[in-house]
Amino acid sequence: MVAQIISGLTVAQDVKERVKKAVEELKTSGIIPCLATVLVGDDPASATYVNSKQKTAKELGIATRDHRLAATFKQHELLELVQLLNNDPEVHGILVQLPLPKHIDEFAIINTISPLKDVDGLTPYSAGMLQNGMALLKPCTPSGVMELLDYYKIALEGKDVVIINRSNLVGKPLVFMLLERNATVTVCHSKTRDLPARLRQADIIITAVGNRERFTLKADMVKEGAVVIDVATSRINGKLAGDADFEAVKQKASWITPVPGGVGPMTIAMLMKNTVTAASILRG
Ligand code: GUN
Repeated sequence: MVAQIISGLTVAQDVKERVKKAVEELKTSGIIPCLATVLVGDDPASATYVNSKQKTAKELGIATRDHRLAATFKQHELLELVQLLNNDPEVHGILVQLPLPKHIDEFAIINTISPLKDVDGLTPYSAGMLQNGMALLKPCTPSGVMELLDYYKIALEGKDVVIINRSNLVGKPLVFMLLERNATVTVCHSKTRDLPARLRQADIIITAVGNRERFTLKADMVKEGAVVIDVATSRINGKLAGDADFEAVKQKASWITPVPGGVGPMTIAMLMKNTVTAASILRG
């Protein structure tokens, strides 16, 4: 079997077109959706992500605030900035790019973001709402994965899904989104025993390790006809790659996401969608 390609570029474009229309509609009722991004430090990968978020927002007619702060910025200063953005009626969405420098308590910062402006879906409130099947603002990367599966009409009910990632950004929110859709979900991580055996049972593999020296998804770990969603980005000889040995796994899977051009573009598209949702919620 040779897998069909799940194109994040196509699906992200589709989402962005819908967002653009929603932005125009909000503007006719006097609301200009506005996303504030906050970047602390000079990590080049984080700067690239924030640049893309800013650029995409502008393309869709979303107003932006762009806070870039030195790596020495203090925790109490960052808390004050988040409070300022919480209280700014013109700002609808707040995104604090992660990871933050080591001297800042990430949880303390995220926990200060108003749940109404939590376009990253990472506050404890949003996480609890997601667990209850009630969230309006859900984490962007897992929402992007779900959007891809739905766009290509990949069935989830009763399917065995194995996720390799247990983070608040990816693995944990995916558990609740997939359970909501009646999938059977297994979460694996660095301490999981005999990962290949678990993977070979999976109808759908969602992998997000991002370190090819520690883990590569090889063809012999994939059941014939399985769906492979590769959330990771790492570099091999300077070239972007995911966790999967793409060309070999493609010969066995039924569907596969490429890297780049798979999940990556979806994360930004879903952030834009969340920003419009937050603006609509604040409108009431
Ligand atoms: N760092 C990597 N992915 C993300 C994300 O989705 N949101 C934030 N805030 N930081 C990230």
